[in-house]
Amino acid sequence: MKYFTQFESRAIAEQLIEKALFYKANPRIDHAKGAGKRIGCIFLNPSLRTRASTQIAALNLGMEPIVMNMDKEGWALEMKEGAVMNKGTVEHIKDAAAVLGSYFDILAIRAFPSLTNKQEDIEDFIFNQFIKYSGVPVISLESAIRHPLQSLADMMTIGEHAPKNKRIKVVLTWAPHIKAIPHAVANSFAEWAIGCGHDLTITHPDGYQLDPMFTKGAHIELDQHKALEDADFVYVKNWSAFNDYGKIITTDNSWMLTEKHFKHAKSAKVMHCLPVRRNLELSDEILDGKRSIVQEQANNRIYAAQSVISHILG
Ligand code: CP
Repeated sequence: MKYFTQFESRAIAEQLIEKALFYKANPRIDHAKGAGKRIGCIFLNPSLRTRASTQIAALNLGMEPIVMNMDKEGWALEMKEGAVMNKGTVEHIKDAAAVLGSYFDILAIRAFPSLTNKQEDIEDFIFNQFIKYSGVPVISLESAIRHPLQSLADMMTIGEHAPKNKRIKVVLTWAPHIKAIPHAVANSFAEWAIGCGHDLTITHPDGYQLDPMFTKGAHIELDQHKALEDADFVYVKNWSAFNDYGKIITTDNSWMLTEKHFKHAKSAKVMHCLPVRRNLELSDEILDGKRSIVQEQANNRIYAAQSVISHILG
């Protein structure tokens, strides 16, 4: 594996999950594997979990992680081919990515979407410029359209909590938010849940349809209460509109889950990738209650990253 940027196959996902579970039980067992190697974690956007868990994962494998917050510490990057750089940008991605590729054995990149240039975002233009010019293996720390390390941790967490001998029902529900939020987590969760063979229902207010590229095979149900019936796992996430690109159409707070929403899904577990806006996206009642497995999800980010890095190291 040279790139970890998206769901590839159920077989690979299962292999990665198995290894992640192994590392969870034995975090330092492969400490010699990454000795003498460096991973560069390049953030064009903020992060708490991805930043810390990727570094811990690399350290568990004996690698040296170096984090660069390019949005604050690096030169302003020009991404466009053939640009005349007579405005704010100082360094071209061609030069910067090539230099980073010469410093690191693996690069890990976070590059959010603009939510204004739809075409550029859906082509994952910025993220792919790093791949094009770095020449080394690349791990996505969340691109414009996908967050595969999050999804791998999510699938691992579902596997740990899933009732046995049953095809589980997973619901991805939109939640209210005051800001325009990217689609990456929701897209990726749908891609991985469907790919891993789960029965996925997606529910959202009208106008919040995700890119159909990621939802083929899911049931779409605009009535949230109906969607939640008999759910085993409920994944909560806000995203902005995809068709009316990057827009906020509603902030209807009846979509925020409370215990009342679980009348017909008594044992459902609730997931969220975090950060979460309490009592806007999800109620304290749910987040602090027995249904919530958000902390386990966050903890599993370490072992998901460790599994992927280990796979790339070979
Ligand atoms: N879930 C997630 O990616 O968290 P951070 O944005 O804090 O890294």
